Amino acid sequence: MNTHDIRPITDPSRPKVYIETYGCQMNVNDSEVILSILQDAGYALTEDIEQASVILANTCSIRDNAEQRIWGRIDQFKLQKRKRNGVVIGIVGCMAERLKDKLLEAVDLVAGPDAYRSLPQLLAAITPSEPQINVLLSHEETYADISPVRMDRNGVSAFISIMRGCNNVCSYCVVPYTRGKERSRDPYTIVREAEQLFANGYKEVTLLGQNVDSYYWKDEDNADRNVNFAQLLEMVAKISPELRVRFSTSHPKDISDEVIYTMAMYENICRHIHLPVQSGSSVMLEKMRRKYDREWYLERVAKIRSVIPDCGLTTDVIAGFCGETEQDHKDTLSLMEQVVFDSAFMFAYSERPGTLASRRYPDDIPYEVKTARLNEIIALQGRMSLKSNEKEIGKVLKVLVEGPSKKNPDELCGRASSNKMCVFPSRGEKAGDYCEVKVTAVTSATLLCERIG
Ligand code: 5AD
Ligand code: SF4
Repeated sequence: MNTHDIRPITDPSRPKVYIETYGCQMNVNDSEVILSILQDAGYALTEDIEQASVILANTCSIRDNAEQRIWGRIDQFKLQKRKRNGVVIGIVGCMAERLKDKLLEAVDLVAGPDAYRSLPQLLAAITPSEPQINVLLSHEETYADISPVRMDRNGVSAFISIMRGCNNVCSYCVVPYTRGKERSRDPYTIVREAEQLFANGYKEVTLLGQNVDSYYWKDEDNADRNVNFAQLLEMVAKISPELRVRFSTSHPKDISDEVIYTMAMYENICRHIHLPVQSGSSVMLEKMRRKYDREWYLERVAKIRSVIPDCGLTTDVIAGFCGETEQDHKDTLSLMEQVVFDSAFMFAYSERPGTLASRRYPDDIPYEVKTARLNEIIALQGRMSLKSNEKEIGKVLKVLVEGPSKKNPDELCGRASSNKMCVFPSRGEKAGDYCEVKVTAVTSATLLCERIG
């Protein structure tokens, strides 16, 4: 593992790289890997685009509007090129993978999610007439030996990628095409990275993968040393009771009882599962190729709650998938009412070229209907979030302080184990301290707490 500083270096003599990150947490972590590689090659980070000699956007393709935003940003990056000689613009990540040729006409550098090790060579080879590209997907690359340079502001909470790619074939989803085949990272490098973060003052790590439940490390020499996700969770949890462990994303078809029991065994494995349901209709779930139905999902929720009664549950929902009837939509609403998720990411279906759905099923729900259904889902979730938070009133929670509250500098904010955001009066604690609080009032987004002890 490379062992440079965990934080960006500041050396005024180095050429500067500016990185914008779009999309998921995995992309946030990928940008930290990119910075690590570029720091080793002699660059330093800048947060001021006017200072940058290299401008990178780490992009997302999940929905069409994510891609449209990037085209707008490229036009703005080009203004920098006009202002200063030698500025280089690079598009990396999922959109680079998907739209390679079109992007190469617009920028100097295009690099896919498995090509980050080659960034220094690509950058060195760029000339005004020769843009550079590497979008090869790999079956092995996990960046296991690269120690990411952390770009977060408060030094409390960090992401660790435990696997890359995705082998599911959800019919709406572009990720298997942009991020390639699933591969798991050596667990010992994961534990070492978490230990290094803890030694540097971090108090929370989130283990990231498209489908963490299918994490599986095969030891070449000794099958007894194979590691599944539940075992990996335990290995990280054992580093210290003071280090919180989170993970994302779980797949309803794969989340095992072993994972649920492991969570219950360790207080520092946070009681929160992000379990994307996508739809409450078994007909839609079948068409989405999710490989579970409504009953299976509800059974998994019941199991989680029977073992961990206070477990936070969040989800993702797609409105207006191909052929969705009014009844399918009602099934989604009724599932949301039944489960009462703490919060949800909610989207209108966006057809992605190349996916199974785009080839098989017409995107036939009119824009107005999709939007109306999405709005109904959002309004219902608002009520459910409030209902879920109201159940917390009177409870005593252990909160990891993230910093001062945005609205009132005399108050602190931080998350409970369930991932719910708490706000409470400060007694001079700083980011990274733990506080015990009691919930006295709630909104749909926040638990308002008083100090105890
Ligand atoms: N359209 C809308 N939402 C999508 N998601 C994934 N693909 C699409 C799509 N084509 C949503 C899913 C997923 C989340 C990351 O993004 O809900 O869980
Ligand atoms: Fe992340 Fe998916 Fe967007 Fe890629 S397409 S950045 S994997 S959310």
